[in-house]
Amino acid sequence: MVTTHVFIAVSLDGFIAREDGDISWLLQRDDPTEDHGYDDFILDKDVIVMGRGSYEKVMTFDAWPYSLPVLVLSKQLTGTPVPDALKDKVQFIHSSPAETIARLAEQNIQRVYLDGGQVVQSFLREGLITDMVITTVPVLIGTGKPLFGALPGDIDLTLLSSRSFPSGLVQSTYRVQTKNPH
Ligand SMILES: NC(=O)c1ccc[n+]([C@@H]2O[C@H](COP(=O)([O-])OP(=O)(O)OC[C@H]3O[C@@H](n4cnc5c(N)ncnc54)[C@H](OP(=O)(O)O)[C@@H]3O)[C@@H](O)[C@H]2O)c1
Repeated sequence: MVTTHVFIAVSLDGFIAREDGDISWLLQRDDPTEDHGYDDFILDKDVIVMGRGSYEKVMTFDAWPYSLPVLVLSKQLTGTPVPDALKDKVQFIHSSPAETIARLAEQNIQRVYLDGGQVVQSFLREGLITDMVITTVPVLIGTGKPLFGALPGDIDLTLLSSRSFPSGLVQSTYRVQTKNPH
């Protein structure tokens, strides 16, 4: 059984980044003295699946931040070489959410950290997200890349837990109705 897990931060008005990919509004409000649970979250994951947009952002960081293998979903990057420094760490693949889950199931991968707004939206549309930890940042940025988007129908969520931090971040964990056959 492959399960898919989201851990993502969003402005109160629903954006994960500005239009140009800027996330400084988020980083500025990340109080390093608060433990928002990321280390615990990532501890039991086997692989990270992210969209090209997220990968390109991470590539601007000083250092590659992940020890888990990363699958980058991208039509554009598939067939292009992975940078040398990331050869054993990153793979570019072009596959639908369902094909991606089937491929991971074949490899006996069980727990997937899913990242990127468009990727989250596409997996949600296909009923392929197990749960989501959503951290709401107390800021309105007006416009940007949305976490959620159009859906073929309503998706009911079950609130599993919710907590707030002195910095004003509010973190809620939701279980999603999944149609994952694997
Ligand atoms: N606030 C947070 O916690 C948080 C977390 C993650 C990322 N971010 C930010 O969000 C931005 C990236 O998010 P994003 O929503 O633009 O993009 P994304 O989901 O990371 O990437 C979207 C791209 O992935 C490719 N793709 C391949 N398969 C896909 C599929 N099944 N569904 C959707 N896309 C697929 C497409 O590129 P091709 O044309 O190459 O196929 C698409 O343009 C970055 O600025 C990043 O810093 C913020």
